[in-house]
Amino acid sequence: PASATEPRPGDLTVGGVPLAEVAEHFGTPVYVLDEAEVRERCRTYRHAFPDAEVLYAAKAFLCRAMIHWVDEEGLGLDVCSAGELELAVTSGFPPERMVLHGNAKTPHDLELALRLGVGRIVIDSPSEIARLAAAVGPEGHQKVMVRVVPGIGAGGHQKIRTGTEDQKFGVSVSDGYAQHAIARILDQPQLELTGLHCHLGSQITSVKPYLTAVRRMVGLMARLHEQHGLVLPELDLGGGHGIAYRPGERRLDLTALACRVHAELTQACAAAGLSVPRLMIEPGRAVVGPAGIALYRVLTVKHTGDHTFVAVDGGMSDNPRPALYGVRYAPRLVGREGSADLARVTVVGRHCEAGDIVAADIDLPADLRPGDLLAVPVAGAYHLSMASGYNLVGRPPVVAVHVGRARLLVRRESLDDIRSRDVGL
Ligand code: LLP
Repeated sequence: PASATEPRPGDLTVGGVPLAEVAEHFGTPVYVLDEAEVRERCRTYRHAFPDAEVLYAAKAFLCRAMIHWVDEEGLGLDVCSAGELELAVTSGFPPERMVLHGNAKTPHDLELALRLGVGRIVIDSPSEIARLAAAVGPEGHQKVMVRVVPGIGAGGHQKIRTGTEDQKFGVSVSDGYAQHAIARILDQPQLELTGLHCHLGSQITSVKPYLTAVRRMVGLMARLHEQHGLVLPELDLGGGHGIAYRPGERRLDLTALACRVHAELTQACAAAGLSVPRLMIEPGRAVVGPAGIALYRVLTVKHTGDHTFVAVDGGMSDNPRPALYGVRYAPRLVGREGSADLARVTVVGRHCEAGDIVAADIDLPADLRPGDLLAVPVAGAYHLSMASGYNLVGRPPVVAVHVGRARLLVRRESLDDIRSRDVGL
């Protein structure tokens, strides 16, 4: 493991370790994860939502160390594939504190979830009910929730909004599909319906949509109580809590969210004559996003027409988010003090596509040159977890920094890895 030395002027130290040292020791591109920050964010959630069950959404980022941190900090886990489930269980995470999601769970996902004893399975479509009941078997028992579409548009980009009827997740309330699905679940004695679930979308920066969701979900719970005498003990409001990717950007205020959701839920339940269900939330991005940094080495600086392109040794294979959602990042020079003069540049990746952009039209020191290091903050969520094998460049490693020490969590995908998976001729 690398250990901290005196940072050079202009270097940035995270978790007590200068980033330039991480780059030298582990190579670039590399994802750096600040363990203390991840843990602190888990604790913030536990404190803000003391009575709720907080489940970390594994899709944002997962590795064994992350699973341990989340476990130690008392969070549950939201998983959506046999892969996430397998990694979590083999890392010692208790399956009963997991929730399985997915709009198209494979037979393998369901079989593994049932065999391992996952706490709840969230039913996403009516056709899943009979399939799940059959897999559980007449003697078996499985707690389930049902994912409802509350008809609320929220989220940082069209592709990550999941609360309205025009997208693939959940069963909608407005046309009665949710009520119908719930009646069918109640007909299956081996399935125990513990509550309703909704996930409005991701990168939401306002509390309001969550309050609307509370009212609509409680409204549905009240109707179910009337129709079936059903009392549901749990309500899962999903994740989606927005963070700032650049200085000054808006983020969701978690304390305000906790207070106002609590108040709204208490009031709505009192008005409907229902007892207050246990709240569940599933944050992913806000737990791990700000705790991660992507480090790149500058390979070329080129002027074409009016543009200056700074090309780095990673790009859309380790961060597809600018290309997918038009997200803007704020890379900065680390490892040396750059000139005070700034130049307007576009930081691009190494991939064979013009859309392979890390950050367009940003100001960086005018003397930026090949060999320099660029750090892209807020790279902890949906970076490695969405990394691809494009151009066979190999996925970057993950290094944790903590109290002055750096340690490898996930190794770099090597040429050997790439060659060895290809077994045909
Ligand atoms: N619960 C469910 C059921 C979800 O589908 C998600 C995210 C979460 C919780 C966690 O949401 P979060 O708190 O992380 O926003 N790839 C996109 C984000 C897709 C989110 C998918 N579902 C991005 O890079 O922005």
